[in-house]
Amino acid sequence: MKKPALDARLRAAAAYVRQDAVFADVGTDHAYLPLFLLAEGRILRAVLSDINEGPLARAREHAATYPYGDKLSFHLTNGLEGLSGQGITDIAICGMGGELIADILSRAPFVKDPKIRLILQPMSRLAKLRAHLAAEGFSILSETYVSAAGKHYACMHAAFSGAPYALSPFEEEFGQYPDTENKAFLAYLFSKERALRAAVRGMQNGGGEAAAQKALLAEIEDFKKKHGLEHTL
Ligand SMILES: C[S@@+](CC[C@H](N)C(=O)[O-])C[C@H]1O[C@@H](n2cnc3c(N)ncnc32)[C@H](O)[C@@H]1O
Repeated sequence: MKKPALDARLRAAAAYVRQDAVFADVGTDHAYLPLFLLAEGRILRAVLSDINEGPLARAREHAATYPYGDKLSFHLTNGLEGLSGQGITDIAICGMGGELIADILSRAPFVKDPKIRLILQPMSRLAKLRAHLAAEGFSILSETYVSAAGKHYACMHAAFSGAPYALSPFEEEFGQYPDTENKAFLAYLFSKERALRAAVRGMQNGGGEAAAQKALLAEIEDFKKKHGLEHTL
């Protein structure tokens, strides 16, 4: 059976999609994820959205080379707008900035349903996205880090619980499930630490305080000490 080859980033997202889901892929572009899941027999049907005509046309063209015509619908729309009546159970929003993902969620009140699962793979602003999820009462059920083509990515599995909660700066930046056995997580942690140290130096040279950055660095140092990682940067 023909199946798109997914890289580790999209494989991590695919792994969170439940059996027999009605799957929405927001910002679908090439449509790799829904086509892979249909080929695996994992999902019943897929709702594909993109805000841009070019990527949606690419999704249609790619999908036309697979035998799933009646299981796919295509929507030129901003995020999840207009998709609330589609019976969607699992939603992927991958390959976008964390703030954009948060914005897409906040414009779609129907996702505040504990039965719906969210699969979120931010390319940047991870802390902003996690802070948004916490403030809006979405629990992060699980999370993993993967590396692909030399870059490190987080992929989150979330659902609405209705109970807002607080995260520490470390949890906002790295998640509630830091796994010191996961090389991609460690690589992300150390690269963030290096960037933070450079930012603090720059701000201090400019006479700034860098209080938030220093607080996060202190949490990183504590974490490294607790896990015997203090000699690694
Ligand atoms: C980098 S691609 C990611 C494609 C795929 N989801 C992945 O992770 O490989 C980002 C896609 O999101 C689309 N996009 C950006 N903002 C969007 C929005 N507000 N609603 C829907 N799609 C959006 C872009 O047009 C583009 O096709």
